[in-house]
Amino acid sequence: MVIYKAKDYQDMSRKAANIISAQIIMKPNCVLGLATGSSPVGTYKQLIEWYKKGDLDFSQVTSVNLDEYKGLSPENDQSYRYFMNTNLFDHVNIDKTRTFVPDGLEADSEKACNDYNAVIRKQGGVDLQLLGLGHNGHIGFNEPGAAFEKETHCVDLTESTIEANKRFFESEDDVPRQAYTMGIKNIMQAKKILVVVSGEDKADILKEVLYGPITPEVPASILQLHNDVTIVADEAALSKIDM
Ligand code: GLP
Repeated sequence: MVIYKAKDYQDMSRKAANIISAQIIMKPNCVLGLATGSSPVGTYKQLIEWYKKGDLDFSQVTSVNLDEYKGLSPENDQSYRYFMNTNLFDHVNIDKTRTFVPDGLEADSEKACNDYNAVIRKQGGVDLQLLGLGHNGHIGFNEPGAAFEKETHCVDLTESTIEANKRFFESEDDVPRQAYTMGIKNIMQAKKILVVVSGEDKADILKEVLYGPITPEVPASILQLHNDVTIVADEAALSKIDM
């Protein structure tokens, strides 16, 4: 595991974007595993900037996103499909038919999840998976307690995740209670993993993730067992770790 200490959010975003661009340059037809949340927004902004300068070409890139709220349509401005379109896809030359997000409108959970696993398999696996980190150690929407061997599945969101994500919705009641998420097994199968973490409020959980016991109670702790993980975190997020 490699840990890069960034000065602040912007520096973190630039470093993470550098790693993603290197991936795209070295393998133009790579499969990127992408994430939502506030952590990767700056990374996407930086990638868009470099694309506009002519330094990056997304034309052969395929993407698979980690998760989607169950029940939200792609047009809903809180859906993760909408997030990806507005924060990245609409601004670069990626072929949208090769950008995949679980189908939030598929009411049959088993079908939605099986279909998504098939999509991931069909791409031949993920070359580089980008991850943010939830306050309770969740990755994607794999909440504490999720079995490590799971593939894409439907989850009931925990109170703490609903609480953390309600800032994006009009009211807490509008936050969906369920989501489809890649499982830990899908995430661990990625060839490389890149985690972006920012802010003092993530300092305790980041320490637990990196140096605590590997347990489903802290889903991201499993990353200790992956052989190619890069953490890019800012000083605030690393403030509890003695580098
Ligand atoms: C959501 C997403 C996760 C994300 C997490 C942290 O729950 N499903 O993929 O990592 O939020 O979000 P943020 O980066 O906004 O702290």
